[in-house]
Amino acid sequence: MTAATVHVELPGRAYDIEIAPGLLAQVGQFLAPMGGRKHVCIVTDHNVAELHLAQLQAGLSAAGLTSEALALPPGEATKCWAELERTAEWLLAQKVERGDVVVAFGGGVIGDLAGFAAAILRRGVRFVQIPTSLLAQVDSSVGGKTGINSPMGKNLIGAFHQPALVLADTALLGTLTARDFLAGYGEVVKYGLLGDARFFDWLEQNGPALAAGDMDARVRAVTRSCQMKADIVQRDETEQGDRALLNLGHTFCHALEAATGYSDRLLHGEGVAIGCALAFELSARLRLCSQEDPSRVRAHLRQMGMKVDIADIPGDLPDADALLELMGQDKKVLDGKLRFILARGIGEAFITSDVPRDAVLTVLTDALAGR
Ligand code: GLY
Repeated sequence: MTAATVHVELPGRAYDIEIAPGLLAQVGQFLAPMGGRKHVCIVTDHNVAELHLAQLQAGLSAAGLTSEALALPPGEATKCWAELERTAEWLLAQKVERGDVVVAFGGGVIGDLAGFAAAILRRGVRFVQIPTSLLAQVDSSVGGKTGINSPMGKNLIGAFHQPALVLADTALLGTLTARDFLAGYGEVVKYGLLGDARFFDWLEQNGPALAAGDMDARVRAVTRSCQMKADIVQRDETEQGDRALLNLGHTFCHALEAATGYSDRLLHGEGVAIGCALAFELSARLRLCSQEDPSRVRAHLRQMGMKVDIADIPGDLPDADALLELMGQDKKVLDGKLRFILARGIGEAFITSDVPRDAVLTVLTDALAGR
C-alpha cells in the first residue's frame, strides 16, 4: 500500500486523512482549494522546523501560497498558557481571519496547542494537521482533541475542534529516533489490542519490517490505526462512551507518567505500551481473558525492543499504593470510580468501572517486584 485516504464522517465537520510518503511536496495542492487568504500561518517547533519547514514552505509556494512560521520550543512544557497566548497573539498579528487555515506542523504537542489556538481564535478558525511523529499520525492529529496542560494535570484545558484535513506524510517518520518511533508504535499496537485481533496478528508478522523502514508497512499501519480511530470518533466524538476505548493502557500510563514527572524517563507511547500489558495482565487475573493474552502482548512488545514492564523504567518509582493514588487523579475518574479499559481477549476491549481496588493493587505490587 503506497497511499490511502481515510474519511472522518462527522456532520458539518467531515474531513479526510491523507496518508502517503512525500505529501509535503503536494501540500499546496491540498490547501489551495480550501479557500481563505493565499498566506498560510504555520505553527511548529524548532526541531521540526530545522528538519522539514523548508520542504513544507516549498510545497506551499509551488501552489502559489506564501507562508510564515512560528517555531515554539519542543517538548511537553510547551503545552502551557504562556505558549498558547504567544501562539494566539502571533496568529492575530498575522491577521488570520475566520476563513483562513492554520497549519499545525509537528508532533502531538504542536497539534494539541495549535489546534486549541485555532479553536479559540476568532471563536474558531479551521486548521490542518500535518503530524510529523508516528504518535501524532496514528492518534493525536485525528479526532479533534486539542488543548494544553494545567499545573493540576495534563490536557485539562481544551476543546473538541476537528481539523479540516490531516496530511500524514509517512516519509517524515524516517527522521524520528528509534525511541520516538517505537513510542508511537505503542499506540499502533493499542489499536490491534482494543479492537482488531487480525491487525495485531499482522503487527506480530510485520512490526519488525515496519520499524526497519518498510514504507508499505508504515502506510498500512498508519491507515488501519486512523481508520479505527475515525470509526470510534464517528460513533462518539466527545467521549460519552466508546471513545474511552482509545484509552486502553492509559490509566496505568498516566500514573506512571505522573510518577516519573512527565520526564524523559518515560515517553507517553512507552507508558501506553506498558499500560496495555498491565491492562491485559489485570484482565487475565480477573479471569476475563486467558493468561496467554498478556503473554502474547508482552512477547510482541519485547520482540520490538520496547519497554514492556514497570522494571524497564529507569530510576525509582513510588510503591503500589502511591501509584493507585495517582490513578485516582486521572481525569478518567467518574464519580470517584476508576474507569478501566479491560479485555476479554486480544481485539476485545471494553470499558468498566467495576474493578476491585485490590486486584489493581496486586497487579501493581507484582509488577513493581518484577513478577
Ligand atoms: N487519544 C485518545 C483520544 O483521542 O480520544
